[in-house]
Amino acid sequence: MRIAVIGSGYVGLVSAACFAEIGHDVVSVDNDKAKIANLERGEVPIHESFLPELLQRHRGGRLRFSTSVTQAVNESEAIFITVGTPQSETGEADLSYVEAVAHEIACAIHGRKLVVEKSTVPVRTCQSLRRTLRLHGSHAESFSVASNPEFLREGTAVTDFLYPDRIVVGADDEWSAGVMQEIYQPLTTGEYYRTEGAIPCASYRHEKAPLIVTNANSAELIKHASNAFLAMKISFINAVANISEAVGADIAEVCAGVGSDSRIGPKFLNAGIGYGGSCFPKDVQAFRVVAEQCNYDFGLLTEVMRINVEQRSRFLKKVRNALWTLRGKRLGVLGLAFKGDTDDVRESPALGIISALLKEGARVCAYDPVAILKAKELLPDTGMLYASDPYTASSNCDAVLILTEWKEFAHLDLEKLRSVVKYPIVIDGRNLYRPEQMARAGFVYHSIGRPVAVPETTPVDGESHAMHREPAIRFAAVAG
Ligand code: UGA
Repeated sequence: MRIAVIGSGYVGLVSAACFAEIGHDVVSVDNDKAKIANLERGEVPIHESFLPELLQRHRGGRLRFSTSVTQAVNESEAIFITVGTPQSETGEADLSYVEAVAHEIACAIHGRKLVVEKSTVPVRTCQSLRRTLRLHGSHAESFSVASNPEFLREGTAVTDFLYPDRIVVGADDEWSAGVMQEIYQPLTTGEYYRTEGAIPCASYRHEKAPLIVTNANSAELIKHASNAFLAMKISFINAVANISEAVGADIAEVCAGVGSDSRIGPKFLNAGIGYGGSCFPKDVQAFRVVAEQCNYDFGLLTEVMRINVEQRSRFLKKVRNALWTLRGKRLGVLGLAFKGDTDDVRESPALGIISALLKEGARVCAYDPVAILKAKELLPDTGMLYASDPYTASSNCDAVLILTEWKEFAHLDLEKLRSVVKYPIVIDGRNLYRPEQMARAGFVYHSIGRPVAVPETTPVDGESHAMHREPAIRFAAVAG
């Protein structure tokens, strides 16, 4: 099928590449001329597994790029809207980009088209979209509107698209539902998974991708409710981690116990410095506003957000507890991205924490495998230093802070790290190590929801440079 994807950001570009991968003729549209020129030249603007391969495979063939909405609409049967829906000052989603695109589409529609909303939007956006298309001159018979929310995680977006837990289609008429079913057929029949050269995903548990058809309002609600639920799971476990810390329990053990209940599940139960990124913070907020507009006070979401903000201040307190004062202290920071496997730093808890540390007079040297460039754009002129590897970042530092869950940070050469730091203190906001492992490697190790681990040889309290004000367990160091 001929498909137009309007908006070439994370969701748009990944969707366009994946639609081409499953056999469709796709035009990816953006009004940013420079971005389109770069894509045509073969540049990949985001760090995303398998995306370079897909762009290379289909660019100039089944995947083309354009700056013209009119031309793309003319050529296509289905038009996906994937433009940004940023947070407005009032907390609700700003739908002005969606509206502007709808206006352009309306002016270009000839023949029957399916307009599909894929950006994250509040419930009832399809209704507004329909109204806008009519208002700008499209005849009711010339188009249908459907919702097709995405559930792509940055870093694994390509495999999330091609191997989904479910595809949700919100359609208010049979024709729209039929077109959407046809688009996703290579996944829902499992045909794609048997194709030679298909992008692999060993952990996929379905033979055919499940597809759920609902009405448009339900589909839109599914998206907001899914993100809000996942954010709630993270805030819930962070709250439990705080209790765990106070009583000397181990949150990793608690999660293993709680998560093994199949009704709860182990995923999204990793305690840390809170959720970030371009989705959860914005979507939880927007969903609460949607509830308000329905005269429902969704106080639970207010609490989810409060716990998330508090988690960062608790981490800062941990740093102060470990180092006493921060002025002039040198900190080696590992991680800038809002999570591992991405170069995205939007709403990154790491950047919020770093800004606060710099404000308190600490000197920061940071390393991230891919997010340094984007972090520099958001944190200009701070005097912060950047390093090209974790050991240089940690060199001669008073403490090492782990702020992003990169796999690389979970497998550091601890002996080497120990040899470059000024004081062997690690404050881990992502729980990447077992406390006893770090203490045995000679580190005073602070993490989330677990007691501080201290090597047996470290002096306590007044004698030490570290102020162990939290419950601590001592472990004998292992030689060698
Ligand atoms: C999220 C959802 O997971 C996707 O399903 C959704 O499509 C996407 O938002 C969106 O709406 O576009 P993403 O923002 O890429 O995807 O990132 P996640 O992997 O969900 O992580 C979000 C944040 O939660 C990160 O800061 C991560 O570090 C944190 N997190 C995640 C935790 O603190 N603990 C966990 O157990 C899991």
